[in-house]
Amino acid sequence: MAIIAPSLLASNFLRLSDECVMLNESEADWFHLDVMDGRFVPNISFGLPVIEQIRTMTSKVCDVHLMIEEPERYAEAFKKAGADILTVHIEACRHLHRNIQQIRNLGMEPGVALNPHTPVEMLYNVLSDISIVCIMSVNPGFGGQQFIPHTLQKIKTLRTKIDQLGLNTKIEVDGGITWENAAEILNAGAHVLVAGSTVFKAKSPKKMISDLKKL
Ligand code: DX5
Ligand code: ZN
Repeated sequence: MAIIAPSLLASNFLRLSDECVMLNESEADWFHLDVMDGRFVPNISFGLPVIEQIRTMTSKVCDVHLMIEEPERYAEAFKKAGADILTVHIEACRHLHRNIQQIRNLGMEPGVALNPHTPVEMLYNVLSDISIVCIMSVNPGFGGQQFIPHTLQKIKTLRTKIDQLGLNTKIEVDGGITWENAAEILNAGAHVLVAGSTVFKAKSPKKMISDLKKL
């Protein structure tokens, strides 16, 4: 069954505790938390103090997606704030292998995210060291964008490689996931669906989560 990770970027920040309660009561598996620094991506979202407070609201997995430069400077702080999974961008890491080890040594599951232009082959040398590959299906920085179709081929290629190697690395797909394209994304080989607008702008977010979960 698919893992559903609603992105709180699309939630109502003025009612954040209600949104957390809603997710707790829903079939959502993970809380996807998007951190943007205004350098790696052209937008600024939220950071450590917000994640620290969200942590007190849930026992579900906190999946932190760092869209920041020099993520190694903050890995320990995100651990302290309560991250279970810490995902860094390959494009932001000059020493990716070292960064992955740092995240694991801190006691978190390491994830690596790839921008739409980055080939999945770039990850093959670290595939067995990481828990999650986050394939960006939009250019990171904003919620509510359109799914980029060539992502499907990247998911297929990566899934074949992971299965060939017998790894249990999970493929997470992030950006532009809708009720209409979710099944195709899962069929291509994704394990985890991140959905922001599709969940939080739905008439009933809980029902949307449950419908996605059933796919
Ligand atoms: C984009 C973020 C995504 C975003 C997805 O930079 O990494 O997690 O919140 O939002 P939707 O689902 O609205 O495309
Ligand atoms: Zn994200």
